[in-house]
Amino acid sequence: MTVDATSRPAAGGPRPGNGPCPGGSPRAGGGSPAPEDLRDLLGVPFTSEQIAAATAPLEPGVIVAGAGSGKTSVMAARVVWLVATGQVAPGDVLGLTFTTKAAGELTDRIRRGLAKAGAAGSVGDSEDDGPDQQGSDPVGGRVVGAPKPRPSGEADGEPVVSTYHSFAKRLITDHALRLGIEPGFRLLADATRFQLAGRVLRRHRGPVEALTRPLSMLTGDLVSLDAELSEHLVDPDTLAGFDLGWLAEIEAAVVAGRCAARNKGHVEALGRMALVARSRREIAAIVAEYREAKRELEVIDFGDLVTLAVRLADSVP
Ligand SMILES: Nc1ncnc2c1ncn2[C@@H]1O[C@H](COP(=O)(O)OP(=O)(O)OP(=O)(O)O)[C@@H](O)[C@H]1O
Ligand SMILES: [Mg+2]
Repeated sequence: MTVDATSRPAAGGPRPGNGPCPGGSPRAGGGSPAPEDLRDLLGVPFTSEQIAAATAPLEPGVIVAGAGSGKTSVMAARVVWLVATGQVAPGDVLGLTFTTKAAGELTDRIRRGLAKAGAAGSVGDSEDDGPDQQGSDPVGGRVVGAPKPRPSGEADGEPVVSTYHSFAKRLITDHALRLGIEPGFRLLADATRFQLAGRVLRRHRGPVEALTRPLSMLTGDLVSLDAELSEHLVDPDTLAGFDLGWLAEIEAAVVAGRCAARNKGHVEALGRMALVARSRREIAAIVAEYREAKRELEVIDFGDLVTLAVRLADSVP
């Protein structure tokens, strides 16, 4: 799991994290916590490296660590530390995760840590629209643009924890008109995406020489390529252009491999890569048609959420 969090200093600027903090949130027992107190506050026997990460100065940082190594615990400890020492106002904390499960874990640990520190009440609950918890409404089924109650934390000036997709959806819902989208836009659920993608594939009349997989598998390929391109802000034409160049390189390598009488396996592997490049170019063309179909129906999907939120942030900082 990967967890990111951003925060801004509380009004008045950051204060040193150690020692009493007159304007900050006091611990139940009085005073600001010491770094070692995080072990007790989070109920985790943190190593000194984890404590150092959680109590690092208030500036951008990154933690790279393996699965199950304590990333979420350290993120929660970081929030508890910054809030309990008064360096950051609770309402200025935004925790973003990829999955709803991770958002739930982070919410829970921050909530318990802050409560134990006597620093704050609730943490804004994450919404349930992450990639691991999608609905299954038919096309036109669910309207998500209607105003929804905000997570409790936001109203109360408490930390907000959410998935990237959920947060993006809220940004788009709040600012749909700035993006030229109707506030009542429809968000395609998973099953509906597949239905629409299948329909686009069946309608496709362009050349399909390399796409030899069954329709059901191609539908999955189409939906995932569309989502990957959206989430990485790459245009289908750009990918097709890249694959054309890659294909030329592979074909040159195949010729060189044959001339050099390299082993058969090497040339075969290059042949498989060429097939991937050719298939992906063809699917990229169909992605453009799938996107057109979404525009016609005035629907967006989970991948679009990230693209639109980035466009919003770029155009209205
Ligand atoms: N230094 C430590 N010593 C012992 N247990 C620890 C330590 N750090 C974290 N843990 C425990 O390890 C477990 C996994 O921690 P955590 O969920 O924070 O890891 P993660 O890196 O976020 O995992 P994932 O990759 O599954 O998201 C938790 O039960 C946590 O309490
Ligand atoms: Mg985790």
